[in-house]
Amino acid sequence: MAPIKVMTIFGTRPEAIKMAPVVLELAKYPTLVTPVVAVTAQHREMLDQVLQLFRVVPDHDLDIMSRGQTLFDITCRSLQGLNDVLAGERPDIVLVHGDTTTTFAGALAAFYHQIAVGHVEAGLRTRNKFSPFPEEMNRKLAGSLTDLHFAPTATARGNLLAEAVAPADVFVTGNTVIDALLATVDEKYRFTAPPLADIDYLSRRVILVTTHRRENLGEPLRHVYQALRDIVSEFADVEVVFPVHKNPRVREIVQAELGGLARVHLVDPLDYQPFANLIARSHLVLTDSGGIQEEAPSLGKPVLVLRDTTERPEALDAGTVKLVGTDREKVYAETRRLLVDRDEYRRMANACNPYGDGQAARRIVSFILWKHGLAERPEPYSAR
Ligand code: UD1
Ligand code: UDP
Repeated sequence: MAPIKVMTIFGTRPEAIKMAPVVLELAKYPTLVTPVVAVTAQHREMLDQVLQLFRVVPDHDLDIMSRGQTLFDITCRSLQGLNDVLAGERPDIVLVHGDTTTTFAGALAAFYHQIAVGHVEAGLRTRNKFSPFPEEMNRKLAGSLTDLHFAPTATARGNLLAEAVAPADVFVTGNTVIDALLATVDEKYRFTAPPLADIDYLSRRVILVTTHRRENLGEPLRHVYQALRDIVSEFADVEVVFPVHKNPRVREIVQAELGGLARVHLVDPLDYQPFANLIARSHLVLTDSGGIQEEAPSLGKPVLVLRDTTERPEALDAGTVKLVGTDREKVYAETRRLLVDRDEYRRMANACNPYGDGQAARRIVSFILWKHGLAERPEPYSAR
């Protein structure tokens, strides 16, 4: 029997981090699987950082990114480029990840070619069409085009079943981000360059900040940064480390509100290795990211989420994550509380691991092999 051809399609930093473990796992079965990697490069530098770290070399690179790209640009260029790639490769199955516009376009392109779709990190929902935008709709649309739903958690599986997806088509795997995280965080890791290498992580309290959500661009981000300014001026032992997303619309406001402030380190997006290890050394995290909401809890770091909704309720339920939105007073008050109230800090700094055990990629690949009669059925992930 010919090996099954499995094409992974991804385009942004978080998809690459979360798909890399799957790509590496697929490569372990050369007699059973022919892996093909196609990237849209919806992100350029931020994607390349991850590809280099995990030594993933794409077979196809559409190189679509443009400065200030719109959703229409990303969708049209991805779809057009993937048409040619899929026509040439004719994979047996396409794997897409999560909720970006690359994800949706990848699933749609595979559907147009009548190629089976596997959706990794399937079933996350806020049930608010515009929050996060456009991710909630991207994952729903990708889900409608999907044949195999790899749900990271039981909650995500439940969301899919509530939408009448057949139980046999949903497999709970854990989130592959925990595979990537566990392979990357190391107590012995040392930062090699300033400012990270110069900070004394024992005597200073590091607040790690990232922001990029489309619905937060503009005034919401400005309010968050103003709250951070207030915090830094009040607490002399606080250092803010802020790897600033490449989006020019984020960078402009960051510079205007936080540029030149003492103890606020504005740096370019970090490679995943220093970034993951920085989470581990931070005191707390302020972010509107999806992936960081999964990583920080498993390292026992409290997360204040700069959003009004989350599709990741598990760490919220465990108490490690709190939704604070973008109101200046609220962000200031909740951050301050974690800096002055030790009991509250201890309650939130409670390592919990609802998102995975580091075996998600193995389960995904084994499940695909099992579907093709090439392996035993793997056991699903169950959070302890
Ligand atoms: C995208 C995803 C979002 C995901 C986020 C992760 C969509 C619509 N959005 O949002 O779901 O959470 O990635 O970070 O799919 N840029 C660079 N270099 C890079 C990356 C981005 O210069 O390596 C700049 C470009 O000017 C680009 C802009 O950032 O036009 C925005 O990138 P885009 O992918 O459109 O949106 P994100 O906010 O990154
Ligand atoms: N990340 C990184 N370097 C950074 C900031 C984030 O490697 O400077 C990683 C982070 O650990 C997580 C992922 O990027 O795995 C999250 O990406 P992002 O916040 O851009 O996207 P989202 O998860 O919100 O889709």
